Amino acid sequence: MQRRRFMGACSGALLCSSGTQAATASGGERRHYERVRLTDATGAPLRASQVPARRNLVFSYPYVSTPAFLLNLARQAAPRQELADSSGNRYEWPGGVGPARTIVAFAAICAHRLAYPAREISFISYREKAGGANQRGDVIHCCAEHSQYDPAAGARVLAGPAPQPLTAILLEYDPKDDSLTATGTLGGEVYDAFFAKYEFKLTLEHAGRQRDLVAGQTRVLPIEQVCRQQVQC
Ligand code: FES
Repeated sequence: MQRRRFMGACSGALLCSSGTQAATASGGERRHYERVRLTDATGAPLRASQVPARRNLVFSYPYVSTPAFLLNLARQAAPRQELADSSGNRYEWPGGVGPARTIVAFAAICAHRLAYPAREISFISYREKAGGANQRGDVIHCCAEHSQYDPAAGARVLAGPAPQPLTAILLEYDPKDDSLTATGTLGGEVYDAFFAKYEFKLTLEHAGRQRDLVAGQTRVLPIEQVCRQQVQC
């Protein structure tokens, strides 16, 4: 049975439990999905203080087939970025979470033509340094048509044809146990277009359950364990 249980949307009030630090927003639409604990490759809770810096980490959220980047930028993300989606809907990205507020998460699906880290190949990833067609360092770069996004500023578009920022994944950080929990999304979503474009492929890979929501926990893996080949440009 298809298990797509969209949890609803609201403008951003604080909805975290006491003592937690959440990626919250004001004035923009938040979409609440399942609360999902991030784990390491073994299934143990991921410790925010141990997330490696400037590494491409990938996890599935909010659907089992939709990848997201988890990035420790090793510098504090700019708080409260004013952004807008391709329809002009404005929202406020709240910045990073974690012990030093350096951890951010975004859908790993390019807002242009939906390139993503597929099992065979990935055209999109975080790049620490400039090089080749990439004039800037510290960006998320899509080699398909060279859209670039600033992960420290809500994944706003820096260059290329992307019409809107990457969808932000909302995270909660609990300093009591150093844990990270995904709670929803913020900004323009591209999931319906993603499911439509890759329907045949996703149906084969997920036995028709690609629209199932992730529940409980989700493993965070280095991109090298998710994709056989990464395009550099
Ligand atoms: S799909 Fe990413 S720039 Fe075109």
